Amino acid sequence: MPAYQVQLENGTRITDLSYESYEIVKGKPKLEGLPSLTAAAEEAETLYITLVDKMIHLKVILSYSIFEKEDVIVRSVKFVNEGSSKLRLQRALSLSMDFDHYDYELLSLSGSWARERHLVRRPLVHGTQSIESRRGASGHSENTFIALLDKKATENSGEVYGFSLVYSGNFLAGVEVDQYSTTRVVMGINPFDFSWLLLPQEEFVTPEVVMVYSNQGLGGMSRTYHRIYRKYLMKSKYKNSERPILINNWEATYFNFNEDKIKEIAKQASELGIEMMVLDDGWFGKRDNDNCSLGDWYVHKDKLPNGLKGLTDAVNSYGLKFGLWFEPEMISPDSDLYRAHPDWCLHVPDRHRSTGRNQLILDYSREDVREAVIDMLSKVLESANISYIKWDMNRNMTEIGSALLDSERQQETAHRYILGVYQVMDIMTDRFPDILFESCSGGGGRFDPGILYYMPQAWTSDDTDGVERLKIQYGTSIVYPVCAMTAHVSAAPNHQTGRSASMSFRHSVAMAGNFGYELDVTKFDEDEKGMIKEQVAYYKSIRNLVQYGDLYRLLSPFDSDYTSFLYVSEDKKDAVLFLYRVMYIPNGPLYRIRLDGLNADLKYRLDDSDQVITGAQLMNYGINEPKELTWGDFNGKIIRLRAE
Ligand code: DGJ
Repeated sequence: MPAYQVQLENGTRITDLSYESYEIVKGKPKLEGLPSLTAAAEEAETLYITLVDKMIHLKVILSYSIFEKEDVIVRSVKFVNEGSSKLRLQRALSLSMDFDHYDYELLSLSGSWARERHLVRRPLVHGTQSIESRRGASGHSENTFIALLDKKATENSGEVYGFSLVYSGNFLAGVEVDQYSTTRVVMGINPFDFSWLLLPQEEFVTPEVVMVYSNQGLGGMSRTYHRIYRKYLMKSKYKNSERPILINNWEATYFNFNEDKIKEIAKQASELGIEMMVLDDGWFGKRDNDNCSLGDWYVHKDKLPNGLKGLTDAVNSYGLKFGLWFEPEMISPDSDLYRAHPDWCLHVPDRHRSTGRNQLILDYSREDVREAVIDMLSKVLESANISYIKWDMNRNMTEIGSALLDSERQQETAHRYILGVYQVMDIMTDRFPDILFESCSGGGGRFDPGILYYMPQAWTSDDTDGVERLKIQYGTSIVYPVCAMTAHVSAAPNHQTGRSASMSFRHSVAMAGNFGYELDVTKFDEDEKGMIKEQVAYYKSIRNLVQYGDLYRLLSPFDSDYTSFLYVSEDKKDAVLFLYRVMYIPNGPLYRIRLDGLNADLKYRLDDSDQVITGAQLMNYGINEPKELTWGDFNGKIIRLRAE
């Protein structure tokens, strides 16, 4: 599998280049227009290896940024046309890495809407195995991540090589085992429907691949990704801050709300200790359903007669911050914006414009479109005291063409779109640094390091069912830090699955992430509100540990009905254990859970009980299954462990 293919003006194509030189440079490689891990990392040392083709004057510079203390290498590639003829990149992958055998298993995070990032592990076989997205976004069905695992590697032992692409559009991650039984991993922008015209003296830079090595199994790899993504990738000022407990009105009201309803939810939420009210879809244009108004970013006066300012001031007066939903990359055919600018969407001339959720995609490869969006969003954000944005994106691409690009550049549209998205996100997050941005894409359809660079948290999935969330959150945590993974308690029966689980189970699952609510608190009785109040207070007491502690995944929901996570402070003196049992088996075998990640030499008190147990015992013998898990289905239990 070649990583590059370049077409000359005469139509011939080249995939082999010869080595010219190398140099080692300290500092930050600059990736113009792309999110970057290395851009923020002072300590990375970068090795540049230059390949050239002297006949066509093409230079290819391979950049390896080495984070020695972290077992991390970040790789990207720059193509430079130093000649006087046009070149066309047909394949411009970020990584090509060879292994001398194929005794590995391949791990990917695969799924769908409402079932994102499930673990799929399979042995390598001869031939090519790949995952990809051709939908214009990194997508629900695959994530921009793969790992090669030693066949015996487990959660906490064995060698693992992780590859994570800092990109949010069409991507390819391929593994080929060849006739000599060697293995090649390639990763980067998907060559499907891609080419890039490189005029004389122009450059093209690929996104970064973040490679992590671990000899402590998958858990070791994940903890490295969590650390470096928090430390170097996220540019938000909130990257190390405890994230607010918010309540979002989507599942509470859908489009059917008005100012009084939102105020009532916010008022009651404030009495329960919730910290932010987020107004979701439906506050703008004439949006009473999903048929219209995307692009018309001005207030729906029938619903909010006092404007956003009136609502925000009221919410703030209850002691809550206020957050707002946008879907800035979209345009509804039934909108003032579309009536004024019918060529502003991605489309192919004279062809039917397919809609998804009744909407089209704005052509972010166009500067005029980007400027108009930035202008509209800025006006809204300046009009009221808005502390948070949920940036949604709810459909994938079809008819991928741009009205302003030449015919020979049409295959650049999807990549230019993503570069445009990055530019708008960059400008908006720089212009409004105090706003906490959360990304979303029909739930977790664009949960990737590219977006995380701009927005330090993402809506993990539209599926808020606790049982499903165990798998989704477990899978997401393979690469992404817990502070980035938002998790809300929603109503029973669950709106996605129809399943009814206890309030306490739903809380215990959501509390293992960046916690919040997605329900109508005004419908609860005093007992239920009392419970929510207690749970909110409890989460505040463990929030730092959950969002910023080291995560040890103890039991996988993909292996049995049990799941367990342990979050441990850096000094190992404080920890919080989450245990879940989905289905109860009558008279089943006894269960014992070992707690990796503690300090064997310390003694830990379990909650406020009189049980004090040594780290060695907790790590080697473990604890017996707590009684709360031994009766009934859908049970969860949280235990705090503090060193004495
Ligand atoms: C999809 C998101 O994932 C939901 O949380 C909600 O914001 C809807 N879009 C609103 O249209």
